[in-house]
Amino acid sequence: MTKYKSIISEKTKNTTKEQLSLYNQVETKESLRGKAINSQTISLRDKLINTIPSTTYLTHGIHNFYPAKFIPQVPRYIIEKYRLKGKVILDPFAGSGTTAVESIITGNSNISSDINPMTPFLINVKLLKLDTSKEMKYFGVISRHAEAIFSSEKEFSPRWSNVDYWYPPEILPIIKQMWAYIHSIDENTESEIKTILKAAGLFISRKYSFSDDETPKLTRSKFKNARMEKLVDSLNNQGRIIFKNELKVKAIEYLNSCLEINNLYKLNFSKTSKLDNVTRPFLYVTTKSLNHLPSTIQSNTIDCIVTSPPYLYAQEYFRSTKIDLYWLDLLSDRQVKDLTKNEIGQKKISFSGIDDHIANIQSYKSVLERIVELSVNFKTQDNIQRFTSYFADMQFFIRFAADVLKIDGILSIFIGEPKVFGCPINVKDIITEMMINCGFKIEEALFDIIKNRNLSKNRLNENPEGIVGEWLIVGRKL
Ligand SMILES: C[S@@+](CC[C@H](N)C(=O)[O-])C[C@H]1O[C@@H](n2cnc3c(N)ncnc32)[C@H](O)[C@@H]1O
Repeated sequence: MTKYKSIISEKTKNTTKEQLSLYNQVETKESLRGKAINSQTISLRDKLINTIPSTTYLTHGIHNFYPAKFIPQVPRYIIEKYRLKGKVILDPFAGSGTTAVESIITGNSNISSDINPMTPFLINVKLLKLDTSKEMKYFGVISRHAEAIFSSEKEFSPRWSNVDYWYPPEILPIIKQMWAYIHSIDENTESEIKTILKAAGLFISRKYSFSDDETPKLTRSKFKNARMEKLVDSLNNQGRIIFKNELKVKAIEYLNSCLEINNLYKLNFSKTSKLDNVTRPFLYVTTKSLNHLPSTIQSNTIDCIVTSPPYLYAQEYFRSTKIDLYWLDLLSDRQVKDLTKNEIGQKKISFSGIDDHIANIQSYKSVLERIVELSVNFKTQDNIQRFTSYFADMQFFIRFAADVLKIDGILSIFIGEPKVFGCPINVKDIITEMMINCGFKIEEALFDIIKNRNLSKNRLNENPEGIVGEWLIVGRKL
């Protein structure tokens, strides 16, 4: 770390606002030139319009709250372009399971890993195997449960010390009662319907909380406070009836998506808890952190990796999903804090320690210098440590990918570039250089324009302008 410290103290002294703005202009031109020469701007949505009608098609729309999901067109583009069928596709930052769904419906096996315990829950509901001849029975069971949802006075209390802060006092007991009922449904005889009701319960629990619907992380806003006042008034002592009906409508919507995916595709994969001697197609889902994957997945066994790692200076993923984790009873306050410390992008120390090899990567060096210049504006100096740790973790990930992929295997990384105080950070160049250094030939780098996405403008103070598109970098292991 000492060598970075010395650059920091020298540069920060001299940087002025004028210098910074001049610097930004030059950088913008440079980065545009780079894009024009090496890559192509594209809209994956438009390109795949005949295959994927909407980003929420099939079960992708279930629990659409997961932060920084990528669109299903990303994995589907790779699967089609590189003709993947009967192959093993890995997503080590699986999040809400977008890659898992696309892999399975195209006849591939999938390995999904993410430290967030929401991942197994979401993949389970999105790839729920249902007997489509029992459609009417499923509808009946959902209605029966919705009618009975407030039949007991029992309340479920989440392991969440701050829960009172997030709900109006009129509503919290109703939500607790709803969850007590959902958790009591028999796992052995009605596990599918229980899963669907849990997903629908999450929708209600978010809608009637003070958590702002527009921002990915858990935050209270004036706007939502005002809406909640109206919502509470409109319940008018009818809260339980309204909740029961809304739960039923949402659960039926989710059931329909699950039936659709079962009707259209043979979900004939087997779920497995081990990776050796497993028959394909299979699905393996784990909550291991990236640093534990090298001991889990053997060298030269994977055909393709499609993934979107955390973005540099992105929000905390746990902060965005903790409301769901608490109601599902997947984590306690303490565990949320521990897992956040292990989140790439939040950690101050990388998995591999500070890696000297990184210092030789040209694009990294220049971007680090730029960050150091900009650091006069940072509220905390943590941002430099988070930066170095982030790229050391990216290097760790790309080395891991080079090990587990077969020769000719495809590594595709979908990544956004934040602007720090208006200055674009060329994450794509660094990742590309790292891939080349680790023995990949770059097949393509596409800049996918973001359409209709409400990326919050105040998501991070250092990134006030948000991002307009994301990079899909594809390499082949030589
Ligand atoms: C950009 S999101 C991936 C979203 C996913 N592509 C989807 O469509 O839902 C990045 C993910 O990386 C996960 N993550 C962060 N640190 C991790 C770590 N140390 N090991 C494994 N996963 C991690 C986060 O929990 C988050 O789900």
